[in-house]
Amino acid sequence: MKDDLQIAVVGATGVVGREVLAGLYARDVPAEQVRAFGSERSKGLEVEYGEDSLEVERATAEAFRGMGLVLLATPGEVSRTLAPAAQAAGAWVVDVSPAFRGDGNVPLVLPGFNTEALSTVTKGRVVCLPGAVTTAAVHVVEPLRRAFGVARAQVTAMVAVSSAGVRGVAELEKQTADLMSGREPEPHAFPHRVGFNLVPQVGGFMVGSPWTEEEAGWTLEAARLFAGRGDAPVLAGTAVQVPSFYGHGLVINVQLKKAGPVEQVRAALKTSPSLKVLDAPGERVYPMPMLVTSDPAVHVGRVRAFPQSPEWVTLFAAIDNATRGAALNLVETGLKLAERERAA
Ligand SMILES: NC(=O)c1ccc[n+]([C@@H]2O[C@H](COP(=O)([O-])OP(=O)(O)OC[C@H]3O[C@@H](n4cnc5c(N)ncnc54)[C@H](OP(=O)(O)O)[C@@H]3O)[C@@H](O)[C@H]2O)c1
Repeated sequence: MKDDLQIAVVGATGVVGREVLAGLYARDVPAEQVRAFGSERSKGLEVEYGEDSLEVERATAEAFRGMGLVLLATPGEVSRTLAPAAQAAGAWVVDVSPAFRGDGNVPLVLPGFNTEALSTVTKGRVVCLPGAVTTAAVHVVEPLRRAFGVARAQVTAMVAVSSAGVRGVAELEKQTADLMSGREPEPHAFPHRVGFNLVPQVGGFMVGSPWTEEEAGWTLEAARLFAGRGDAPVLAGTAVQVPSFYGHGLVINVQLKKAGPVEQVRAALKTSPSLKVLDAPGERVYPMPMLVTSDPAVHVGRVRAFPQSPEWVTLFAAIDNATRGAALNLVETGLKLAERERAA
């Protein structure tokens, strides 16, 4: 990376933005090269950068002047406005929101899966990243696709409230306190009370469709990521909002094209550097959101198949949605692009 390359972290006060700052700090990027941005609301606040702190500036088109790399951890509608402004400033731009995932002109990159797609990206283009559930599911499916072929992966995702950002976290905290004190809370960030409940709706529904935008996103993002790798597995399923704070859990039913013994399935999963296999159920070892906190690997286990239908393999996976599912994808992609700047 050019030693003076300036990095803008936009959305620095959010669930993802804070983890982006932690990820840059962990990779020894000096504080002088990093600037933190947010909306007018958070202007002047301080955010942690390791031992240091950074003052949050308001994100405007002018503020991006001189930035070499802009990392957007903002809501989709904000990214749609700020990405062109960052492009106009001549920066590399990486966006973690859903804003550009459906746009075939914007490369969709998942580090550890198709990082090579970055080699064709030119400066001033936006690169976008998949969501946390797609990140987990694609990392789990890919080694099975290579070993056996995969027709379809059916996912039930248990989605933590931090998927809805700081507002989602605050809502579960308040609802839990209210319910423990005998008060029925009002839902704001979610369509129903999420405290001590399960809500089979994450985000809004697609217009005229029974699928939520979250669920439709998995299918679209996986199709884009697997395109060009032979028969692309279909990824589809149901997202359920659950009353936990961080870490998503996924039940994944994978339909193999050629059935193999469960031991071979487990062995194939172990070949992936993106996965950690935790699968000793007799010793109560399996993935759980509480174990995956800050782990850059996706955890997978509970691997099993019905003898009557050995081509269907069932697994359980867990991902830290804020770090592996978002911030690390932003940091790793951004720093890869910055390396190209240095090499230029
Ligand atoms: N949370 C997850 O698990 C996850 C996973 C994958 C992808 N994502 C995506 O990551 C993005 C950020 O999510 P999050 O969970 O971090 O949300 P969040 O906690 O609500 O944070 C949103 C951030 O965006 C900033 N922001 C809002 N409006 C802005 C504006 N007009 N100009 C500049 N900054 C603005 C906020 O700053 P203020 O403090 O000033 O409001 C805040 O820093 C979203 O697009 C989300 O879909 C999230």
